[in-house]
Amino acid sequence: MQEMPINPWSNNQSVDVEKLFSDFGIEPIAPLIPELPIVPYFIRRGIVVGHRDYRQIASAIRNCTPFHVLTGFMPSGHPHLGHLMVMKEVVWHVEQGGNGYVTIADREAHAVRGISWEKCRDFGREYLACLSALDFVGQTYFQSKNERLKDLAFEAATKVNFSELTAIYGFSPETDLAHADSVIMQVADILYPQIDREPAPTIVPVGIDQDPHIRLTRGVAHKLRMFTVEERHGYISVRSKNAPEQALDDVKAAFPHAKKYEGHVDIKGAQCADVATKVREVERAHGGFAFYTPSSTYHIFMPGLTGGKMSSSIPESIISFYEPEAIVRKKVMSGITGGRMTLEEQKRLGGEPDKCSLYLLNLFHMVTDDAELGEIRRKCVSGEIMCGNCKKETADRVVAFLKDFKEKMDAAAENIEV
Ligand code: TRP
Ligand code: SF4
Repeated sequence: MQEMPINPWSNNQSVDVEKLFSDFGIEPIAPLIPELPIVPYFIRRGIVVGHRDYRQIASAIRNCTPFHVLTGFMPSGHPHLGHLMVMKEVVWHVEQGGNGYVTIADREAHAVRGISWEKCRDFGREYLACLSALDFVGQTYFQSKNERLKDLAFEAATKVNFSELTAIYGFSPETDLAHADSVIMQVADILYPQIDREPAPTIVPVGIDQDPHIRLTRGVAHKLRMFTVEERHGYISVRSKNAPEQALDDVKAAFPHAKKYEGHVDIKGAQCADVATKVREVERAHGGFAFYTPSSTYHIFMPGLTGGKMSSSIPESIISFYEPEAIVRKKVMSGITGGRMTLEEQKRLGGEPDKCSLYLLNLFHMVTDDAELGEIRRKCVSGEIMCGNCKKETADRVVAFLKDFKEKMDAAAENIEV
């Protein structure tokens, strides 16, 4: 497989976030903050930094109109602290009124990572237990068990060809078909809430490595529409892409000042949003999908304790929910910090929290109170606290957090039937 700028299956995620944004058209989320009635801590603290089309989600939250939230996990290992962020994002969006969905990507784990179906099931259940521990409310499914999802994937596959897969993922003639299939499963996952319930804006919180799938899905969602609706000078143009003639007639009939031409209807004196809604109704009545193009948010990765990304393939980099206390303490105590070479230097110059894996652990999950986090930062940069003590305090927090979380997971695990 060719090296691609963003490769969802590679472990090397040392990417320059801002450059990716400008290269791939991901937008910074900060300008949308005023549009949210409540700003979650992951946006406030700069953990979730980018988005595609999040405005339609902010507006659904504000106006209490329907929207969905979906994310997915590949059950290729135990869940760990690195998975917690998207889980919290999903839970938050459900609290804001979204319909929650989580997919366990066992087909992807089997196809791409060679994980046995039995292991997929065991790991998948652990992810579901985590979600329950976070009080997630909504639907969960395993890809391999969801027949409607597979039908949707097949339909989506009619809109994707191999040259597109090569351009997006660097697939080569040697890439196996199951790998391509797992890609189209993810496309179907992202569109699934809209066939399970109703077409509505859908927010997909992911890490930046998943953006290729988001781009592909947005293209497919558009291609599966019967119509496009565009605002022109003084009128709204509804174009048929592959709509039956009768559907185009129905669009015309819905608006008094509409004129029908070959393949399109032009409408005067109407609001674009109203036309779009009506066109969706007509499309659905004629058996179309009427998809909204899905939205996404991107969070920065919590660095692993050894520096790079948290990854199951580097056991020292992660803290999983299944580790004994002594190991957790040891891992935290040997984590990479933003401390200086000598104590004297650290007292004089202060530490560098933004380079410190433990500070980021606190920022992401361990310290929920902003004032308390601010105090840690202040003490660090002023050289008031040394890393040894700071690590110990962090280890205590992590141990307490995990104890509580694990109890909730265990209680939930009993009720998970898969
Ligand atoms: N590919 C994702 C991963 O590697 C898992 C996944 C499958 C997913 N379907 C999804 C993520 C839909 C977001 C939305 O972790
Ligand atoms: Fe990190 Fe704490 Fe050391 Fe600062 S004092 S660099 S936050 S461990």
